Amino acid sequence: MLYLLLVLLMTVCLAACAAGSPTESPGKTDSSETDALPAVIEEKPEKEPLGDEQAEAPVPPEDGAGADAQDPQNSVLVVVFSATGNTRGVAEKIAALTGADLAEIIPAQPYTAEDLNYSDRTTRTSLEQNDPSARPELASDISLAGYSTVYLGYPIWWGQAPRILSTFVESHSFDGITVIPFCTSGSSDIGQSGETLAAQAGSGTWLQGRRFPGSVTEDVLRQWIEETAVVQPETSLHLYINGTEVAVAWESNESVSALTELAASGPLAIQTSAYGGFEQVGPIGTALPRDDVQLTAQPGDIVLYSGNQLVVFYGSNSWAYTRLGKITDRTAQELSDLLGADGTTVTLVME
Ligand SMILES: Cc1cc2nc3c(=O)[nH]c(=O)nc-3n(C[C@H](O)[C@H](O)[C@H](O)COP(=O)(O)O)c2cc1C
Repeated sequence: MLYLLLVLLMTVCLAACAAGSPTESPGKTDSSETDALPAVIEEKPEKEPLGDEQAEAPVPPEDGAGADAQDPQNSVLVVVFSATGNTRGVAEKIAALTGADLAEIIPAQPYTAEDLNYSDRTTRTSLEQNDPSARPELASDISLAGYSTVYLGYPIWWGQAPRILSTFVESHSFDGITVIPFCTSGSSDIGQSGETLAAQAGSGTWLQGRRFPGSVTEDVLRQWIEETAVVQPETSLHLYINGTEVAVAWESNESVSALTELAASGPLAIQTSAYGGFEQVGPIGTALPRDDVQLTAQPGDIVLYSGNQLVVFYGSNSWAYTRLGKITDRTAQELSDLLGADGTTVTLVME
């Protein structure tokens, strides 16, 4: 009876938020089998209404996805298993925020829509999740060599990590690696899934994991990444003119590094004044390393003048400057409109 109730709850709630998905199968329930309930389903903490996920049709992985994307120079790796795309989407955001590499756990035998039908206890996922010894094969290996931090993502299946995660963690050494589990689900929390995987791995430093909805925003993920304090979200130097952000291609030189360091301790607001009908110029407040060369600045050029003045051009002028960067998303006319008036504030922010 308990099984019947749980299956009904799963079917109604997940089908409601996954209209049209292949998981809307009739949900075969045979009350004569109720006594033989698999332990996993009995333990499944499905008390809250299943929530906000779109259980999409399974997306076949692209050929070669996964290990190919790895760059052993990077110390952070996001490893994800995702049958219908939700966790993959979250993994991609985490990788973008941390500057990490991304690798996908791909099953040797892909999960079909029928396999993912949790309403039927005879489907592949039901059988696997109810068999603690099930170890679905991996299509290819993912090397952890050179990585010191691994974000490990997966969907929750019947209150647990899919068994293929066990295959993955048992076939890798996590020595010297900090592992941060994360998952997506209809509504279930991450539960003990991280601890179970840690025990199966038998190595590595495993942090408390966290569950996200597939629709989680970058802001929420950024905050979580900051909280874990293992990896800081990557930031870069942004430039605002009177509060309007402009895209800048920054030079790679000591002056820009020094400017970046200044902005890292808080937004750097520089009061500038229009000069000569071609530039806005204002004091940075400190001297930066300089390597002046004679050049003819063009609209959009950002330069260092005299080692301690920031200049943004909306016209042209020839002088000895150190190049800092160039505004790339404004026409000369737009730059003139933005910068032509006196009393401009140019703000540099790390974000
Ligand atoms: C076989 C199966 C079992 C599931 N079990 C649960 C569950 O116990 N609790 C829950 O909240 N969601 C459950 N879900 C929903 C998934 O966790 C959710 O849709 C997840 O975001 C899918 O991630 P993916 O798109 O990366 O595969 C289950 C889905 C499937 C296919």
